[in-house]
Amino acid sequence: MKIISHRGASAYAPENTLEAFKLAVKMGSKDFEFDIHLTKDKVPVVHHDFHLLRTAGVKAEIADLNYADLKKINVARHFSEDYKFQYIPRVEEVLEIISPVADFINFEIKNDNNAYGGIEKIITDFIRLKKDVFEKAVVSCFDYPTAKRIRLCDKEVKMGYLGHSLTNLLLPIALKKAKEIEASSFHINFKIAFKMNISKLHQAGLKVYAYTVDDFKDVLRMKENGADGIFTNYPDII
Ligand code: G3P
Ligand code: CA
Repeated sequence: MKIISHRGASAYAPENTLEAFKLAVKMGSKDFEFDIHLTKDKVPVVHHDFHLLRTAGVKAEIADLNYADLKKINVARHFSEDYKFQYIPRVEEVLEIISPVADFINFEIKNDNNAYGGIEKIITDFIRLKKDVFEKAVVSCFDYPTAKRIRLCDKEVKMGYLGHSLTNLLLPIALKKAKEIEASSFHINFKIAFKMNISKLHQAGLKVYAYTVDDFKDVLRMKENGADGIFTNYPDII
């Protein structure tokens, strides 16, 4: 079962920062996930929220700042008052750290309501630049219209269907959507990653990765249920 470092080793260092990814590598991680946004000057950057309030205590949106200004903001504040300054990294910087050791890199594009027009092509072109990155890449997005546009931009890049607010009843609809974008994996909230659901997804030819699993008991349950991987903030969990 893959143990996918979720936002890096984000239980031990500020999420989605270079320190979090360096630590994940140090812990022996080979599988990684991070979230992508675009700055005002169209630089792909790694951060979870659209806004900077939670991580930096700053009332600003990533989309409204050029990268040179964004880089001055400390996103370690929410993690600990004492943690050394951490800026929001460019996707490229994160890849420099993880790609030499990675087997699997999940690029999760955040693009609710098409907040970043054209992000699909920017990211798929970017992934295409390096063959080794392309081979390890899996692109996902909660926003289904964005997922469809990603597939239109690149017919070959591996895609993960990212399920949102799913229930057992809604799973068949999600499975249909996953097939429409020719996903190779299904990323499911661990709360509905029951044996029967995982089995249905496997029958459809999809790998199943469950998010976000931070409790050891849940890790064992995911293994028992047949998940192919878990996203966790604790890459050293097993
Ligand atoms: O991609 C799996 C997981 O990261 C999705 O949730 O909110 O942590 O991006 P979130
Ligand atoms: Ca994510």
